Amino acid sequence: MENFFEKLDSALKNNSIVKMTLSKSVSKNNELRNIYVKPILLKDNKMYQFTYRYDRRDETKNFDARQMMEQVRSMVPATFQNVSLFTLTEDVTLLVSKKGKPTLMCKKINENREVDMNHDHEKQRLIDPSNPWWHLLGLTSRDGKVIADMQHKFKQICKYVEIVDGVMRQTKFDDEIHIADMGAGKGYLTFALYEYLTTHYDKKIVMEGVEIRKDLVLKINDIIEKCKLQNFKFIENSIENYKPSNIDVLIALHACDTATDDAILKGIRNNAKLIICAPCCHKQIRREMEKSGKTDAITKYGIFLERQAVMITDAVRALVLEYCGYKTQVMEFIEIDNTPKNVLLVGRKSDKPVDKEALAKQIKELLGQYGIEEHYLWKNLWKNCRAY
Ligand SMILES: C[S@@+](CC[C@H](N)C(=O)[O-])C[C@H]1O[C@@H](n2cnc3c(N)ncnc32)[C@H](O)[C@@H]1O
Repeated sequence: MENFFEKLDSALKNNSIVKMTLSKSVSKNNELRNIYVKPILLKDNKMYQFTYRYDRRDETKNFDARQMMEQVRSMVPATFQNVSLFTLTEDVTLLVSKKGKPTLMCKKINENREVDMNHDHEKQRLIDPSNPWWHLLGLTSRDGKVIADMQHKFKQICKYVEIVDGVMRQTKFDDEIHIADMGAGKGYLTFALYEYLTTHYDKKIVMEGVEIRKDLVLKINDIIEKCKLQNFKFIENSIENYKPSNIDVLIALHACDTATDDAILKGIRNNAKLIICAPCCHKQIRREMEKSGKTDAITKYGIFLERQAVMITDAVRALVLEYCGYKTQVMEFIEIDNTPKNVLLVGRKSDKPVDKEALAKQIKELLGQYGIEEHYLWKNLWKNCRAY
């Protein structure tokens, strides 16, 4: 154990700590999952930022080198049994067994590492919580601080913006980008994307949130007006009946069940350059699977049937997008506790020809395998429409 603290002490003296994590809590009931430590520069003083990661929130505190050492000594091994220390020259791992026996592993490294002294807040500041709309939306206090219960939501919002930005940067747009957010709900993600794009993109951003609930639409449009935001409005309508003038980017995040299909269809029919959706509650296919009574070694178990319904629904959505000329990616979305809503489907319109026959065969075979008579999106693709 002392060998570890000597290593830590010398890394502190040499200013060579890149990062460190304290993990494996002694108590199972410890809400604190782990602590992430990194060096930062605060008003020209070298400090160590401790991020305390709880189940639903993070807290940060900054310590100088002496305090940092005291903190670690007070928590290892009393609270945490594992430490991973990354320095400029070596990786040091301390593992303490249940019986309190420590094992120290050190590995010299060959790569060139740097000590990143940026404050994490600065890096994550994709969204500025001091903007007035965040207070009006109920995420921040009057003085622009994210309120405790909304920390998790705010983190999700920032992560969402980061992911969508990454996807959008790979797509060519004209001078105006028209974005339609389907089933926009309380508008958190719509405002976040609007804020980010209007401050980071050198293009005119036109944003429409489509929402069926009148109360939400009235509330959000009032906030937009109060904050004098340009080219941004919520429209009270169903996704099916929404008539956009133009869509470059179609977004549908957690639009319930087949509302996601309606949104994808809206994007396809309006020739959107990008279709981004995070599907939610896959009831339609589950009902079809139950109706068919066809089960296999997986779907004979209720919970797997449910998961398979999610997979089939979204796999067919991905195939339909490909069928309609979209290069499709399935990505991991933001982790949302205890829900399967963590998949992001991204379709990017492509000029490359696709083998429609092979794709249609794959769709039909997949549906047939589980006795599914209809997949809402696949069926509606053919309704009142030109041949795809
Ligand atoms: C789960 S919320 C998601 C809100 C937001 N996109 C988000 O991810 O935070 C789904 C929203 O979609 C709306 N919605 C559901 N079906 C819809 C439809 N067919 N047309 C328009 N809005 C719909 C609901 O009223 C609800 O506000």
